[in-house]
Amino acid sequence: MTGAAERLFDLLEWDSTFFSLRIGRIRGCVLGPDEAELLREQALGESIDCLYFLSDPSSAKALDAAHELGMRPVDVRVDLSVGLPCPLDTEAFQSSAREPLASESELLADLSGRLHDSTRFRSDPCFEQDRVTEMYRVWMRRCLSEPHCGALVAGPPGAPTGYCTYSGIGNTGRIELLGVDPRARGAGVGSMLVRSALAAMASRGVETVRVATQGGSRASMGVYQSAGFRVDSIGLWFHYWPAEAQKA
Ligand SMILES: CC(C)(COP(=O)(O)OP(=O)(O)OC[C@H]1O[C@@H](n2cnc3c(N)ncnc32)[C@H](O)[C@@H]1OP(=O)(O)O)[C@@H](O)C(=O)NCCC(=O)NCCS
Repeated sequence: MTGAAERLFDLLEWDSTFFSLRIGRIRGCVLGPDEAELLREQALGESIDCLYFLSDPSSAKALDAAHELGMRPVDVRVDLSVGLPCPLDTEAFQSSAREPLASESELLADLSGRLHDSTRFRSDPCFEQDRVTEMYRVWMRRCLSEPHCGALVAGPPGAPTGYCTYSGIGNTGRIELLGVDPRARGAGVGSMLVRSALAAMASRGVETVRVATQGGSRASMGVYQSAGFRVDSIGLWFHYWPAEAQKA
């Protein structure tokens, strides 16, 4: 007797609840032709609305399977990291950034809801865009309230023009959200915020900082690379909406 095939994806509870959809993530970064067919059956069988797939862009097999299933390419994800203390003089930047005031929380949540306008959730029209805006607002509120997170902002009190939020557990830190109001861009604010966040994390004993960003954004790649980050990996994000792909 043969047992049931192993499920090729994991359900994502937070995403499913937040978007009121059944959402999961495909395991691994490569799918073969047999797995693709099995995945289709499993996803339809479990009434899945959307599966995220972070594929290996160097695997023709993975790209073929994604195409065959009718997946939607939605973003290029680049993971970068930097070791601390960073070779750059991060201390010099810290003076221009400040900690947010408690009264600025909702302003920052609104800014975050507006600024992240080129992510995979924005480029996929199947996601309700008001919910995507709310997702970034929730993310900002979490960064401002959780004890293992920190935030730095630019701009005068009561009118922040940019932010860099980060989290750290043990000796590893992560940049969570980075954004600069379009009117303040191109003047070094993003760089200043990232370098200040690196200095703040270094002072808390963090030794390695990671970030995931959009490979298609020259601005964010520029900010991170000029702050000393190096690319660790590149992945291609697909969203698979099985019912919709079935109709096409
Ligand atoms: C990414 C972002 C924060 C950059 O902020 P910014 O204040 O304009 O960036 P800076 O002026 O500090 O520029 C930093 C570097 O990137 C380069 N850069 C900035 N914008 C660029 C653009 N549009 N094209 C190419 N390079 C760019 C600059 O030349 C600079 O390089 P240098 O340090 O070698 O001179 C801003 O564009 C933004 O908020 N984007 C939307 C949100 C986002 O994508 N966040 C990042 C992912 S979490």
